[in-house]
Amino acid sequence: MLLRHAIPRRICARSLPPALTPWISPFNHPRIQRRGAATEGGFGATEPATATQNDLDFSPKDDIVSLAEKELHKLSLNDLIRFGRPPLPAQALLKSARFTREALPIRLSRRIVALRNLPYIIVSNPHISSIFENYQHSLRTILSFPRNHPTTLAEELDFTELLTTIVQTHQNTIPTLARGFLECRRYTTPIEVTTFLDQHLRERIGTRLMAEQHIALHLASTKSPDKLDSENLTNLVNDSYIGCIDTALQPAKIIQSCASFVGDICELRYGVRPQIKIDGDPDVTFPYIPVHLEYILTELLKNAFRATVESGSTTPVYITIAKNPYREGISMRIRDCGGGIAPENLENIWSYSFTTFDEDEGRNDDVLGRFNDAAGGADGSTIAGLGYGLPLSRAYAEYFGGSLTLQTSYGWGTDVYLKLKGVDVGAL
Ligand SMILES: Nc1ncnc2c1ncn2[C@@H]1O[C@H](COP(=O)(O)OP(=O)(O)OP(=O)(O)O)[C@@H](O)[C@H]1O
Ligand SMILES: [Mg+2]
Repeated sequence: MLLRHAIPRRICARSLPPALTPWISPFNHPRIQRRGAATEGGFGATEPATATQNDLDFSPKDDIVSLAEKELHKLSLNDLIRFGRPPLPAQALLKSARFTREALPIRLSRRIVALRNLPYIIVSNPHISSIFENYQHSLRTILSFPRNHPTTLAEELDFTELLTTIVQTHQNTIPTLARGFLECRRYTTPIEVTTFLDQHLRERIGTRLMAEQHIALHLASTKSPDKLDSENLTNLVNDSYIGCIDTALQPAKIIQSCASFVGDICELRYGVRPQIKIDGDPDVTFPYIPVHLEYILTELLKNAFRATVESGSTTPVYITIAKNPYREGISMRIRDCGGGIAPENLENIWSYSFTTFDEDEGRNDDVLGRFNDAAGGADGSTIAGLGYGLPLSRAYAEYFGGSLTLQTSYGWGTDVYLKLKGVDVGAL
């Protein structure tokens, strides 16, 4: 039976995220805020009670719990390309939709349970409870679509519209959660927040990508002018894309565009912009997800530019690109001469919310005011201050088996090493 969902509009390319409209691009990436001064209490320590079904209007508890206990299918890059290169034949597109329909409820339920297990005082914070509501609503929405469907292209279109709505609902999850945890900093500790956020945000990367991949495959497989505007149509017919994956991604191009964006915000803040030099193998290409690389490079360049300017260095930031000779993949070193990281800060740099931004301006007491500054700028962008750049970049890098490490020489500068494994698309 074909279910009609309460989402009347057709899929509009303008409303879509992945390869078409990056959901985390330098122009639209999570804005979050700096460290909370939390040192007291802890999850389960100050407020042992967790929210109850009545308090927070849960879907039937047992459904969520049993879904959340199902085995989590770890998303791999190969999963994303397993249905083939678009345009997909109808059967492959339907399989992709059914795969997504089956996997998303498990993933959403796991997040609902994790949020529900936070201390009541935290989950009842308005920002955190709004995220909690979003997850519940998304779960209900996806469960409204029958199992083992879609079986027809008309149903598949309905399903893809539903997915699009879900992806949009979760657009602001990261800054909203960050704000919530900042407001709750008296009731928890930075370690507990980092532990929760790290797992939550890593799982979110996969959940979101799974939905976006199907949407992108749908668009690339059903190119019809009534659904796509001409600009996005051009992107979709680009042969190098398989959904969200660009099989011929050239890191040097992404570095240039990210450096241009970060240079702009650097100039706005400091009046100067450091130079970059790309060396190694700038022509290298590899198959990867452009929006993930874009997010990571934006964050690493923000850090390198800020250190360079604040230390008064005029040495360019060097980015060395190397292709892994043995398998699809690359490594990059981002080197700045911005004075390095003080030993006392090193152990904290991978914690969500740790930042040294503006310390010398004596504004540490006003963390929520800082959140407003950072999140409310005219273009929503600041050079630093939220303390999410490094840990979230590492989460992205590690998601598909890569790594992000850092070596610093205090008094001199910092080298950041980014390694990414590509996907083997040779068989397609
Ligand atoms: N290249 C670098 N040189 C010097 N210090 C650095 C460098 N990269 C990171 N740091 C230090 O690590 C801290 C944490 O970095 P991170 O990117 O996670 O947060 P942030 O830059 O403060 O804020 P956000 O990235 O969320 O805007 C920074 O505040 C800074 O003190
Ligand atoms: Mg940063």
